[in-house]
Amino acid sequence: MFGSLLLASLFLHMVVSIPQPACHRCCDHLPPLDDAATLRESMPGMPEVRTYINMTILKGDKGDRGERGTPGKPGIEGSLGPRGTEGHKGDKGQAGAPGDACKSQHSAFSVGRRKSLHSIDNYQALIFDTIFVNSPEHFNMFAGKYRCQIPGIYFFNVNIHTWNFKETYLHIMQNNSEKAIVYAQPSDRSIMQSQSVMLPLQEGDEVWVRLYKRERENAIYSDDVDIYITFNGYLIKPEIE
Ligand SMILES: *[C@@H]1O[C@H](CO)[C@@H](O)[C@H](O)[C@H]1NC(C)=O
Ligand SMILES: *[C@@H]1O[C@H](CO)[C@@H](O)[C@H](O)[C@H]1NC(C)=O
Repeated sequence: MFGSLLLASLFLHMVVSIPQPACHRCCDHLPPLDDAATLRESMPGMPEVRTYINMTILKGDKGDRGERGTPGKPGIEGSLGPRGTEGHKGDKGQAGAPGDACKSQHSAFSVGRRKSLHSIDNYQALIFDTIFVNSPEHFNMFAGKYRCQIPGIYFFNVNIHTWNFKETYLHIMQNNSEKAIVYAQPSDRSIMQSQSVMLPLQEGDEVWVRLYKRERENAIYSDDVDIYITFNGYLIKPEIE
């Protein structure tokens, strides 16, 4: 028992004490890997290492700028952008040019009638068919009435021709009140008759000529050749100047 232990320890000692050679790599005898050229020289069997070609050295001088190419096709229209914020309030504008203080307001009309007229029963407005002047258009041809739009003092005049053996009976009216009359009794001689008046008018007042038929025939004469019947009016003085 003791003898075998001793043998084993002796053996162990022998194993441990066997001199070992220093550890080397197979390439340790080669010179250090300084660069690719040295490596290739010393190891001819190795695959060739590609030499890097520096293109900068081979490059020539920079060429001239080429011509501008043709423009490309337009792109697709983009979608509508979001609404922008509200802009600043603008500055106050300049004052306008002063008005013409001397400019006078005016209103005038002169109308005529080519057809004679037998008045019907009671009241009837005298209507006209010819305009000499209607400036601005304050005289209503359909109604036969002047409508005041500029308050002030006005002049009015009416001219008619009587009819043989017939009565002539008309009024210059302001709204529904008679202001002046044109009257002629029946006669064998027809004659021209006229009436004039000045009236203070307010805006909206209407001035017109009204025929009035009583028991006797009431008529005024005119014909296609001449105008016997005229109605005229104009502003003399506006209330506010
Ligand atoms: C290439 O050559 C140019 C000019 O000699 C030099 O400036 C550059 O550094 C080189 N490039 C490389 C990658 O070696
Ligand atoms: C005349 O009639 C018009 C229209 O109806 C009216 O505006 C105006 O006030 C009247 N004028 C008078 C004096 O009654």
